[in-house]
Amino acid sequence: MRQWDEGAIESMHEVMNVGIHEVMNEGMHEAMSEGMNEGMLRTMEMPSDDLGKIHGSTCADAQPSINAISLRSAEARVEVSAKSEPKEQSLPRIAVFASGSGSNFQAIVDAAACGQRLKADIALLVCDKPQARVIERAKQAGVQTAIFEPKKYTSREDYEQDVLRLLHKQRIDWVVLAGYMRLVTPVLLRAYEGRMVNIHPSLLPAFPGMHAVRQALDYGVKVTGVTVHLVDEGMDTGPILAQQVVAILPNDTEDTLSARIQQAEHELYPQVVQNLLSAELLATS
Ligand code: GRF
Repeated sequence: MRQWDEGAIESMHEVMNVGIHEVMNEGMHEAMSEGMNEGMLRTMEMPSDDLGKIHGSTCADAQPSINAISLRSAEARVEVSAKSEPKEQSLPRIAVFASGSGSNFQAIVDAAACGQRLKADIALLVCDKPQARVIERAKQAGVQTAIFEPKKYTSREDYEQDVLRLLHKQRIDWVVLAGYMRLVTPVLLRAYEGRMVNIHPSLLPAFPGMHAVRQALDYGVKVTGVTVHLVDEGMDTGPILAQQVVAILPNDTEDTLSARIQQAEHELYPQVVQNLLSAELLATS
């Protein structure tokens, strides 16, 4: 894409309709030109001193190069940043979906950085909030990012069809929801049945939904925790894979308790994902 002239970029904008924000990678461009909808906003290059660096990584050996391009169109934008050097072909490819701060995304990226704790390629971040902090984290880590604007679509299913096209194009094997603030429809669920997981800050089935930590405090329970579960159509209702207890201390506030819960999440989530991947490898070998 970097070599494209203005005319080529304009005609690409005509092909794309609504929902992605910025894109920074050639594979992504192909996905777009094969029917992605409204939304790539602009192209841009990563700063040259970002090339070859991985930021915030806990692995000293990780040296992927970063290549980033994005496009501008009138309606919406999609953003994708990319590691241009392919990783080991055999690693399962994970897409993380996130809407917010992305501390769990970071924990997963860090666990995968050396290929030790998590043997996977964190191949894509899907984000539905253009201002989310997780986007910056992905940029720093050199993880491709697709930013969607779901409200630009006529339905949730329509939005997910676009996401699904991208997941297929990027050969994504597993979907890991990490603070993704949307219910998933059968469009994605069917495609990733048994391969889509979520993390929730309570001991489900207690306190599902958005305010789990506050509700645990308000209710007066003495312990709460973290649940990792397979995703279904409900809100935090899928089959439970793992749980970790976090004690509630007498002086806990929502902030202090959330901090300890997140600490537990960052340990548990990469571990559970790795366990799932290992089982998958055994099952298919
Ligand atoms: C986490 O507490 C997770 O359990 C919930 O959303 C929060 C996301 O936090 N589903 P972060 O964006 O990973 O920091």
